[in-house]
Amino acid sequence: MNTNNQLDHLMKLRAEARMGGGQERIDKQHAMGRMTARERIDLLLDPGSFEEFDMFKTHRCRDFGMEETVFLGDGVVTGHGTIEGRIVYVFAQDFTVLGGSLSETFAEKICKIMDLAMKNGAPVIGLNDSGGARIQEGIESLAGYSEIFQRNVMASGVIPQISAIFGPCAGGAVYSPALTDFVIMVQNNSYMFLTGPKVVKSVTHEDVTVEELGGATMHSSRSGVSDYAASSGADAIDYIKKLISFLPANNIESPPVRPCEDPVERASDYLNEIIPTNPNAAYNMKEVILHTVDNGDFFEIKELFAPNLIVGFARYNGIPVGIVANQPAHLSGVLDIDSSIKGARFVRFCDCFNIPVVTFVDVPGFLPGTAQEYGGVIRNGAKILYAFAEATVPKITVITRKAYGGAYCVMSSKHLRGDINYAWPSAEIAVMGARGAAEVLYGRQVKKAENPVEALAEKEKEYQDAVANPYVAAQRGYIDDIIDPSTTRFRIIRALGILQNKRDTNPMKKHGNIPL
Ligand code: HXC
Repeated sequence: MNTNNQLDHLMKLRAEARMGGGQERIDKQHAMGRMTARERIDLLLDPGSFEEFDMFKTHRCRDFGMEETVFLGDGVVTGHGTIEGRIVYVFAQDFTVLGGSLSETFAEKICKIMDLAMKNGAPVIGLNDSGGARIQEGIESLAGYSEIFQRNVMASGVIPQISAIFGPCAGGAVYSPALTDFVIMVQNNSYMFLTGPKVVKSVTHEDVTVEELGGATMHSSRSGVSDYAASSGADAIDYIKKLISFLPANNIESPPVRPCEDPVERASDYLNEIIPTNPNAAYNMKEVILHTVDNGDFFEIKELFAPNLIVGFARYNGIPVGIVANQPAHLSGVLDIDSSIKGARFVRFCDCFNIPVVTFVDVPGFLPGTAQEYGGVIRNGAKILYAFAEATVPKITVITRKAYGGAYCVMSSKHLRGDINYAWPSAEIAVMGARGAAEVLYGRQVKKAENPVEALAEKEKEYQDAVANPYVAAQRGYIDDIIDPSTTRFRIIRALGILQNKRDTNPMKKHGNIPL
């Protein structure tokens, strides 16, 4: 063969590999409203930046006629490329090849790029669309999954790991995405569950559809497995690209700072009006976030899950931060099991990857009730407390209104190594709400009064004036300053500036034991 023939042969093999499971199966994939693995990669990466590895790798199975069923690349497309010029490693399961099912060689391909990503300190993005373990192989594919799981765990906290689910993801296969930092699903087109509707029916006699059991909406609003329910495959990929823009490539790097055109000193008079006169009335904490961050651009994570706590990424003067905020517009911003877990996981992610945390506080306490106590609100509420307490990244806190009881302590208070703690003049920092406090302290006395309602209101006001304000905490130094709400953006930016060289450490240990 001369060089031209050799190149022709190479091109022919490449073209064959690019066709995956063949045109018919590609058409079927499109008919289901899904892209192919390569189309997803093309959309994700900068044009022309993708370099594919192991395009010619094939499985080694010789059972069940598999020696006749061989596809170049074996059902997963792997390699590296760039997103906005920054290197990422990527794998995309190709459903057109044997249903994207995972064989021993398929797993080896994924492990290779995970190892490279770890060595070179770059994120791994997994685009999942698979029928699970390759049934013809059996134990080899289980071994393959386990090798991937082990790498997911070793990579945790070292490089960002992002999973998107574009089709089926069932059985033990769900655990690789579950071990990664973010999971994105596509509405009405992707599902994740341990056992499908048929097994559920035979074991628990429940009738449930695929979408109800493991669809994007369920996992993004109820189970919390998914961070975003994308409206389409393209929307899922846009979300990944935006997410990556806030993250450093690894745990040694700082997050990528961008030039900022939004004036640092931009004041927002609206924030002086946002707190309602009635202390029990709601307002939307997202407005506070939007009015302070660069260009009103807030990238929310887990928007549909536990909306009483808001988490997400934004920038202040171009510096990426993680934002954690109670949401008074939902369940009065109370902390409960789900919101504690949501907040804890987010704060720990930020701490792993050197992303400062800005916390906005308006919290009436932890949610009472048997459902919460039986569900372990003690154990689960401890998670968010643990996460804030162990975090060594810069921590800036702004108390806008209520900071009551245990929830005050938990929400990045001074006592949990909060670096800069501000309060608005409207802040109420106390052991409990004025009404509850008046009832406990003066209940008997009030009952005996001529007009008990009036007497209680008087005692409530007395408590409110004496304790439920920011000045008592400020006198103790638990609050560094009481600020004009309109200047919050500037104050946060300046605080981030003075904390940019922050060094803080935790005691040497193998690892802590967060209450799981
Ligand atoms: C081998 C598979 C496969 C698998 C699908 N295919 N799943 N081949 N191993 N796991 C093949 C099909 O035979 C078919 O081949 C092609 O992929 C497309 O599949 P269809 O069934 O035609 O597609 P669809 O109707 O869309 O259904 C998709 C599906 C279904 C729901 C995923 O294929 C399915 O139920 N697959 C089996 C799922 C499963 O039980 N997996 C093992 C789970 S155990 P042809 O040639 O006809 O096109 C597991 C353990 C992991 O994963 C443990 C980790 C620790």
